[in-house]
Amino acid sequence: MSKNVLIVHASPRLKGNSSMLAAEFERGAREAENDVKTIQVGRANIAGCIACEYCFAHEGVCCQQDDMQDFYPLLHWADVLIFATPMYYYNFPAQLRAFQDRMFCGVAKPFGIPQVGLLFCFEDDDVERCRPAVDALKVCADYCKQEFIGEVIVPSVYEAGAIEGNPGLQQAYEFGRFIG
Ligand SMILES: Cc1cc2nc3c(=O)[nH]c(=O)nc-3n(C[C@H](O)[C@H](O)[C@H](O)COP(=O)(O)O)c2cc1C
Repeated sequence: MSKNVLIVHASPRLKGNSSMLAAEFERGAREAENDVKTIQVGRANIAGCIACEYCFAHEGVCCQQDDMQDFYPLLHWADVLIFATPMYYYNFPAQLRAFQDRMFCGVAKPFGIPQVGLLFCFEDDDVERCRPAVDALKVCADYCKQEFIGEVIVPSVYEAGAIEGNPGLQQAYEFGRFIG
């Protein structure tokens, strides 16, 4: 069954390694006849959650007027959420963390996204050093009653385009093909 797939690309580099992972995932997911949309949050204007709890009194509506307002309808549309991101300081980039925090209004009124996955790249050669960031996403998915459906992790890439020829691109394509 085809699904609505939302790829959240979180690098400020619009043409870098994580964007290539996202593109390969998208190619696979489209071939599997899913409806796929990609949003760029790496340079978006997204403030952190201010814990005002306006959303709890207003059916999940967030009162902060910034780029998240463009993204909320897509979060309500999505069946599958895929984060495509580099690692910054052994975590996700600040703009993605802000995006995640602003999904708090989905606690007040669930977006209804049953599945989450991750495409992740970074410079470090030791793949284990990304585990705390990946585990945090998995714990959060569990809290939100979302199934964590998979991850593609690509270490040892720094410069934009360094991922060219990396088997992780094929893995991202196959991950996309598996959706639906
Ligand atoms: C601000 C900043 C912080 C970074 N922090 C880390 C890090 O903690 N560990 C790491 O392995 N790579 C780190 N990197 C390297 C990126 O993860 C790497 O260059 C990645 O391939 C970039 O993906 P992109 O081309 O999609 O932006 C950092 C890069 C930047 C610009």
